[in-house]
Amino acid sequence: MKKIVLDIEKAFGPITPEQISAQAWRSAACNQALENGTRKGNDFLGWVHLPSSISQTELADIQATANRLRSKCKVVVVVGIGGSYLGAKAVIDALSGSFESLDSTNTQIVYAGHTIDEDYLHELSAYLKGKLFGIINISKSGTTTEPALAFRILKKQLEEAVGKAEAQTRIVAITDKDRGALRTLATKEGYTTFTIPDDVGGRFSVFTPVGLLPIAVAGIDIEPLIAGATAMEQNSASDIPFADNMAEIYAVTRNELYNNGKRIEILANFHPKLHYVSEWWKQLFGESEGKEHKGLFPASVDFTTDLHSMGQWIQEGERTIFETVLSVAKPKYRVEVPFDEQDLDGLNFLAGQRVDHVNKMAELGTQQAHVEGGVPNIRIELPELNEYYLGQLLYFFERACGISAYLLDVNPFNQPGVEAYKKNMFKLLNKPGY
Ligand code: PA5
Repeated sequence: MKKIVLDIEKAFGPITPEQISAQAWRSAACNQALENGTRKGNDFLGWVHLPSSISQTELADIQATANRLRSKCKVVVVVGIGGSYLGAKAVIDALSGSFESLDSTNTQIVYAGHTIDEDYLHELSAYLKGKLFGIINISKSGTTTEPALAFRILKKQLEEAVGKAEAQTRIVAITDKDRGALRTLATKEGYTTFTIPDDVGGRFSVFTPVGLLPIAVAGIDIEPLIAGATAMEQNSASDIPFADNMAEIYAVTRNELYNNGKRIEILANFHPKLHYVSEWWKQLFGESEGKEHKGLFPASVDFTTDLHSMGQWIQEGERTIFETVLSVAKPKYRVEVPFDEQDLDGLNFLAGQRVDHVNKMAELGTQQAHVEGGVPNIRIELPELNEYYLGQLLYFFERACGISAYLLDVNPFNQPGVEAYKKNMFKLLNKPGY
């Protein structure tokens, strides 16, 4: 099996290869701390060996529940916010058809609880009316307002549509093993439940049932996803030398760029299906590093689309940015540019070429332009967009994020800043106790 590949050559200029090598010992120490639990947040390191420790029984259990939901439901609503839905959405979007499911027997996954928009909820309820639907309700704390509100509305709709007893069989809860309102509710209502381990935080939970159950319900094979993540767990372990350890190299490179004055990392892709991988990545790095008035701001763009909107800023705006490009070497399908007798659009110079070749030249041209314009470039290449390489990619980012946050000397696993808006909102809503 191939590996995803990291290339930092085009990041050199503002920083040097010597600077990167000089940080090898620090990144190895940070990486080791993720294994030894000797630094901040050491009660949230359960994700580090998660891929290699998932048993076949656990996977079979998840798959069996997924099969049950698939047999009963044409649509399953994944209710969750932040780390409780982004990993699943990243994988499902990356591996599903752009317009409709690649497999017509597939159960459609839709989302709720990630917004409090009334019109969204109204339209979702209207969409579900008359459809065979089920719900996967995900909240580690079991007390988050957005998913709790959405679930209350959807549960009522489902019970009214099919009766309480049948609704029970179509609802699955994923939450803490014994704390929180969702655990209480699930126990009382008799729902099938899965547990989020105590030592795995939301944004690091994609390889728990939080990510795996919705992904399996979407008809995606979770075994190669875990196999890819396990391979990357091994390849990014602290005993892998720095020169071969892409998680350490990426963490050091972005930190050296930060120390050099860069303030924004833009994750760019040339494949629209990767849009939500970027959303997942933004949460992972943003919530893990943005504290104590430190941390790169993680931004994202979809190219070439956004070259016609954000391209101007990236090329000529403030020089505080660098770019990390996600590239897929081999597309799944083949589309060639047809020859046209009249050539009125002047595209016959491309006749017979693959569209992917045009995309790749756009990528190369963009890299040259941005690097020359003062935007250092990091490139991550996936051999193909499939379960195995996505597993590698997601674990790679998790590992690099842990190392990077330790290099910054912040706790990667808490999110104290998220509480401020909640307190104000509860006070404004007259919640008892606020
Ligand atoms: O990464 C995190 O911990 C957060 O983003 C959570 O995933 C998010 O706030 C949702 O929390 P919960 O799963 O408790 O509802």
